[in-house]
Amino acid sequence: MKRVDDFRLQLGRHELVPIVIGGMGVDISTAELALEAARLGGIGHISDAMLPTVSDRRYHTRYVKDKLKQYKFNVANNDKSIVRFDLGLLAEATEHHVRKVMEAKRGPGLVFLNCMEKLTMNAPKETLRVRLNSALSAGIDGITLAAGLHLSSFALMEEHPRFRDAKLGIIVSSLRALQLFLKKSAKTRRLPDYVVVEGPLAGGHLGFGMDWAKYDLAVIVAEIRAWLQQEGLAIPLIPAGGIFTGGDAVTFLENGAAAVQVATRFTVTKECGLPDHVKQEYFKCERDDIEVNTISPTGYPMRMLKKSPGIGSGIRPNCEAYGYLLDAQGNCAYIEAYNREVARHPDAKKIQVWDKTCLCTHMRNFDIWTCGATAYRLKDTSRRLPDGSYQLLSAEHVFRDYQFSVGDTIALPPTD
Ligand SMILES: Cc1cc2nc3c(=O)[nH]c(=O)nc-3n(C[C@H](O)[C@H](O)[C@H](O)COP(=O)(O)O)c2cc1C
Repeated sequence: MKRVDDFRLQLGRHELVPIVIGGMGVDISTAELALEAARLGGIGHISDAMLPTVSDRRYHTRYVKDKLKQYKFNVANNDKSIVRFDLGLLAEATEHHVRKVMEAKRGPGLVFLNCMEKLTMNAPKETLRVRLNSALSAGIDGITLAAGLHLSSFALMEEHPRFRDAKLGIIVSSLRALQLFLKKSAKTRRLPDYVVVEGPLAGGHLGFGMDWAKYDLAVIVAEIRAWLQQEGLAIPLIPAGGIFTGGDAVTFLENGAAAVQVATRFTVTKECGLPDHVKQEYFKCERDDIEVNTISPTGYPMRMLKKSPGIGSGIRPNCEAYGYLLDAQGNCAYIEAYNREVARHPDAKKIQVWDKTCLCTHMRNFDIWTCGATAYRLKDTSRRLPDGSYQLLSAEHVFRDYQFSVGDTIALPPTD
């Protein structure tokens, strides 16, 4: 029986262990987690979601405080179109964080940035251009274009001196999305270096509608693979979503995948950015505790634990401090939902909003517990301690379990 370690991912001159730890915003896939993947010879992702906010927590900068101070006069105003990100500061925060991570990188693997298009930041094109180019300037090994079609993202980076040397890939959930991306990017005369094919069992936002359960990752990968072959395009494919064991990964690798992208199993590692009490919720959860809902203002369905404190919370929109999901006109679906509830309950001290959530604030505070469909199996990957909690894992342990396990076996961690 084969193991993941019998395969290698060839990306340009790099020969890698074919395990990619997917990006998990907001700072759930931390620098520490991504650096472990690189040290062990695979690929790790940091995320650029809400980076100024993350920078404040990590490096004691003051981006959020200063922005709130600048726009404080607007807090009670429903119109948020005036709340803008300073592009110079956005570049500074991105470059600083990426540079710090790249300086700390050891080992033969790579660190990529997960860059979500849906983070529209009240000026979608301008802010995306800054985020992409700043990461390239700061030496990121590669960028994975996520959560969106990214029809102009290659063009936004085209002038950068590293545009043809950095590894650039995209996440798609259908052949059609890939075809559209390739068509729109054709004039840059550059193909993606890899394509992550994300199926319906993944964590975070889904590239499907609420009929996600009708789709199957293996079928989508096969369809994309056949089309690429027909077109004579040799682009490595990296399936993602629901790949829980080394055996699951081997099945995809034997069917022509170049690597696999995984995330949920790493949410319960010490290096993952979730607070420890949230990691315990992931360990404890049962299949019925997980749902796909439409509360994300991005318009994409999202998978999460039903217990997430951010569900139903009716906090005042916090766009003056954050505002990462404001569209080009300064709108966010949460603001609409919140205002509707305030109008319905004018005398209420505390209101509840069930159809949308203030994703910026709640992701920042780790109150939306997004996870893959397999999260209920995490309890089988660790040991129960005498106090009833589960032993946290090391990223190295999980990575090596994927790399070296045979079949569907899962190695338990050595006792702490
Ligand atoms: C907690 C969590 C947060 C995630 N956040 C993001 C994100 O910010 N951007 C993104 O492109 N994918 C995100 N994902 C998806 C993962 O990168 C990955 O592709 C997917 O979850 C792999 O499936 P698995 O979790 O079943 O292994 C997230 C997944 C999890 C579990």
